[in-house]
This record gives sequence, structure tokens and C-alpha cells, in this order.
Amino acid sequence: MSETLANLLHEERRFPPPAALAAAANVDASAYAEASADGPAFWERQARRLHWHRPWTQALDWSRPPFARWFVGGQLNVAYNCLDRHVEAGHGDRVAIHWEGEPGDTRTLTYADLHRAVCRAANALTDLGVAAGDRVAIYLPMIPEAAVAMLACARIGATHSVVFGGFSAESLRGRIDDAGASVVITADGGYRRGKPSGLKAIVDEALAGCASVRHTLVVRRTGQRVDWVDGRDLWWHDTVETASDSHRAAAFDAEHPLFILYTSGTTAKPKGILHTTGGYLTQAAYTHHAVFDLKPDTDVYWCTADIGWVTGHSYIVYGPLANGATQLMYEGTPDTPHRGRFWELVEKYRVTLLYTAPTAIRTFAKWGDDVPAQFDLTSLRLLGSVGEPINPEAWMWYREHIGGNRAPVVDTWWQTETGAMMISPLPGVTAAKPGSAMRPLPGIGADIVDDTGASVPAGGGGFLVLREPWPSMLRTIWGDDQRFLDTYWSRFGAGAGSGGDWVYFAGDGAKRDDDGDLWLLGRVDDVMLVSGHNISTTEVESALVAHPAVAEAAVVGATDPVTGQGIVAFAIPRGGVDGGPELLAQLREHVARTLGPIARPRQIMLVQELPKTRSGKIMRRLLRDVAERRSLGDVTTLQDSTVMDLIAAGMSAPA
Ligand code: WT7
Repeated sequence: MSETLANLLHEERRFPPPAALAAAANVDASAYAEASADGPAFWERQARRLHWHRPWTQALDWSRPPFARWFVGGQLNVAYNCLDRHVEAGHGDRVAIHWEGEPGDTRTLTYADLHRAVCRAANALTDLGVAAGDRVAIYLPMIPEAAVAMLACARIGATHSVVFGGFSAESLRGRIDDAGASVVITADGGYRRGKPSGLKAIVDEALAGCASVRHTLVVRRTGQRVDWVDGRDLWWHDTVETASDSHRAAAFDAEHPLFILYTSGTTAKPKGILHTTGGYLTQAAYTHHAVFDLKPDTDVYWCTADIGWVTGHSYIVYGPLANGATQLMYEGTPDTPHRGRFWELVEKYRVTLLYTAPTAIRTFAKWGDDVPAQFDLTSLRLLGSVGEPINPEAWMWYREHIGGNRAPVVDTWWQTETGAMMISPLPGVTAAKPGSAMRPLPGIGADIVDDTGASVPAGGGGFLVLREPWPSMLRTIWGDDQRFLDTYWSRFGAGAGSGGDWVYFAGDGAKRDDDGDLWLLGRVDDVMLVSGHNISTTEVESALVAHPAVAEAAVVGATDPVTGQGIVAFAIPRGGVDGGPELLAQLREHVARTLGPIARPRQIMLVQELPKTRSGKIMRRLLRDVAERRSLGDVTTLQDSTVMDLIAAGMSAPA
């Protein structure tokens, strides 16, 4: 990273843990020392938080890198760990899920209820001929049946592939085909923004000409009309709800495939990320315990992600349920029927731990401080963020307006591929800095390296890598070991600079500050090269968001005849701001002052919305197309495809 940019990350603000939280925290500072002294033995201790039908004989087999085997020889059942053992321990009456539908209908499921529902679904799937190792696709809205379906698959050893309910028939078909799923679990539809949206119709379209699927199981959610293929389609209420609720969970090998989850992918074919059983559950449960400081008897936890993303897998289903948490699950969008919906839910359920994404936080900030101020948010004691780098000003807003300047914020870095959190503050230990994910969690070996794979010193920037295998690591890309090797392990793989060790390339740029804390800078594809200087889009965006007139910003590098790439920024003004030419000049000046003259945007355009993927990440690729005045690339993964038309229409020639 260039000298001229050295000042942005000189963040002076520090927020140490509240004393009471620190004193009672699940994990204290000794975990770091223990983990570094003990290696895989640290993870063996965490694995003992689970129930094993048969103990493992070896913590880690890394004899055939990068194909890891964790807890070799061990056997367990994931659903047993998430349900049966809590019921057997006398917690059957504890609420597992407070569910709130978008229209305001509610359901409450205790651990005993959830256990019975999962047993019924396990029996029904078995009756449909689903056996251990078979693949089941799940295409559902955010209703309790989504968790039930996942856990039922886990219970019988079927490998699930959850496909986000916003994906098209074509994306769904690609994922069903790639995994060779034999059953699809879906619903007639779900509620989004006050309207029922169809799911079954999309499944029907996806299944035209599909050879592998024998049955669909259809949950009735909206009551809308659906087409029916006799013999293939079955109602959930006729099949699952009439099945026996008694089911014995068999034990599966620690390396049994638990799920495949396709990463969104930008242009290329989506990658089926494969996760297995024992290591995955160990790290999902441990990180949820350590980073959210969960106290199962008193906390009410809410992760606002969709079950179709890895966050929903690890931090709605597997981590929290393995830990016996009580959680809130919400079906709909944050602005239906009004912009205070999230805060109304926090107040209603007295939510104590909240996990959401920077894109949501920036949207809430844009909607105004007065919205959350109308609700009682004093129950909140800890706030989490995931999905993108969080701009320091968004972090501050979250802490102040949602956390009442009291609740610590934990910025958690991880990926679909890592399965669970990797870099994050520990809420009882870390004096956090706004915008930094701080340090690798105990047991995690993260580093930042230069082009040659050598570690960069404090103050340096480069590529984020993982130097040690970790329990919840992806095991491969489904059906494509070669792509697994090429994508993650060849950039800095066993060879020059790595000392012959296997080094995982995360694809993110990062910076290490003078204290040794880590700052994530977004995907390396998003780093710009301006007059020979590497400048991250994240840094320029954070500088823009720090200006009082800007609510959100996206920055791209556009080909420039003079500088190689020129910085082009798209900014959403805050409500009431006059977006005249003086403001644009002011913003360019503001960035130059914050980051150095080299980072002064060539051009800034004020827009009303930014193009985002369905998981809320800004699609800089499309903005680059606009900035370089090209026709737009693939827009099928956009949340709202009209956004790009508006932006493209407003793009003027470079000044
Ligand atoms: C990519 C992974 C992890 C669950 C949700 C996303 C970005 C994620 C952070 C963070 C900076 C982050 C990275 C990463 N990312 N969390 N706290 N700070 N960047 O899963 O869809 O697999 O995306 O999201 O670029 O590589 P995913």
C-alpha cells in the first residue's frame, strides 16, 4: 500500500469491553496463548463441547494437503448435537426459535418442538428413499421449516444444498444439476415487501428436463395457487406432518459431507463449497460461543441473514442450536411494513445479541437516527457485523444509535469457504477500533503477505492468507478438486515464499496497522492501480462515507489514459443534502485530504441507489462497466436490476 495512504488507518478511537461483560465473558485473553501453544489440541478441547458417539483418534490428518481430515475416526450426529442432547439435558421447554413472519404472524418452537419436527422430517425423507450421502436441495423462504429441513438432512446424513429463495430458475437448475439432488424442499411462496412471491413455480421451471429429482416436498406458506405434478410433488403437511416423531439419530463420520453451498460467483460458474461434519460444527459452535458470548439461559440472539447464505447456516442453524441458544428468526425485509421493523422486533423480543451486515447498517443510517430512537433497544448487549468491510463511520453509527454507546461491536471476517468466523474481536477482551476486524480468533493462523508470499510488517498491506488448516475449512469444491487447488491453494501454495507450507489465498486485500491489527480491504479484484499506487476501493469509500453529506458510496477504477486507472465514485447523498457541483468538488477535496492527493476521485456521481447482489454486496463490476462506458455485463445476480439503468443513464463523460 502506498505511503500516501498511510494515514487513513491511523484510527485513534478505541472501545474497550464494558467491565461487566469482560468479567463474565465466555472466553478471556488466555485463549490466544492456549491456542498458539497447543495447535490442533486447542480444537480438540473445543470439539469436546459436542457429543461424540465415537471419539476421534487423531485431531488433524494433514498428510495429503490441502485435503484436510479433522477428528479422524470420530463419529457424531449434527442434529443430535443441536436438539436431542438439549432435550435430554432438561431444556426441552426452552424456546429455540421465536419466529416472526413478515405479515406479523408468529410461531414459537421450543427445543422439544423443533426436535419432534426434525424427527418427522427425517422419517419422511427416509420414506421418500433419501439415504445418507444423497443430496437434497432446499429452496425455502425464512420460515422454521428451512431450519427443520436442514437439520432433518443432517440427521439422516443427506447432504443439503440450500439455494437462496431469491435466485432464478436457471440458477436453481444449475445448482440442482451440479449436486445431483434427488429431492427439492420448497414452499408455494414466501412474503417479501408485503406481497407473496412464488417459489414453487420457479422450482417447476427449474425441474423441466431435470433427471435427478424424484420428488419435491412443498410447504404451504402463502396459500397461493400452484401447479402440481402427480407422483413427483408432495405437500409437506401430508407427508412430513403425518410422519412419526420418533427417530433415532445414527452417527456419521466426522468427515461425512454435511452441506454444499454455492458461492455467488461473479462471472464464472458458481463453486459448490463442500463442508463436512465434525470440524464444521466444532468451529461454528465455538465461535458463536466465543464471539457472541452467548449465555443460553438469558440471551435472545438474532442473526438477520437469510438461511440461503453461509451466515444463515453457521449462525442461525448450526452454531446457535448446537449451543442451545434462544433466537429470533424473521421472514421479511427491514422496511416492511415500516422502516422501524427491526427495532420493533428487538424491543418486542428483548433481543440481546444482534448480527447483521454493513449494507443494512448503512441503509439504517441513511433512513435516519430518529427511526431506531423510537424504540427501546436497551436489551442489546453486543452487536456483530459481517459480509463486507464495515466503514468506520457505519461502525460508529451502529455502536451509537443501535448499541446505545454501550454494546461492543464485533466485526467478523470470514467466508463461505471458511465455514465459520476467522478474524474478529473477542467481546470481553479486545479494545476494538471502528472498521477493523482486529485479530485472528484463537486457533486461527491468518497473515498478510506481499506478491511473493512473504509476511508484510506492521504498517504494510497485501493479500490475506490463512497459514494453518482450520476445522471448518472447505474440504473441496463439489466435484472439482482441481478448481479447489487452483482457486485457493496455488497463488501462494507450497513453494516460493511459503517455506513449502500450504497457504490458503482468501482473495481479499488487507492491511496490518502499527499495532498489528487487521483491516480488510475488500476483494483483490477491487483494488485500483492509480499512477502506480495500489488504492483499495474500500478506503476511498470509507473516506466518502465519513463526510456528513454521504450515506453510502461505491468506488471503482476505470481505465485512464494518463494514470492507468482513474478513481470513479458513486455516492448516495444523505436526505436533504443539496447535491450541486460545489458538493462534488468538496467531496473530491475531502478524499484527497483524508487519503492523500493520489486518491482524489477523477469523477464523482451522485446516485439514489447502488447495485447490490442479493446478499447485499456492492457489485463494483457493473459500476466499472458504466464508468468505462461499456455495455453492462451479467446483471442476473442483482437485487434490483432497474438500479443500473438509472445509473448508466446519468453517467456523464469524464471531466
Ligand atoms: C467475502 C465472503 C462470511 C459470511 C458472509 C459472506 C467479505 C465478509 C467481512 C468483514 C470485510 C468481509 C470478504 C470475504 N467479507 N465479512 N467482516 N470485513 N470483508 O460470505 O459470500 O462467502 O463472502 O465477504 O470479501 O472474502 P461470502
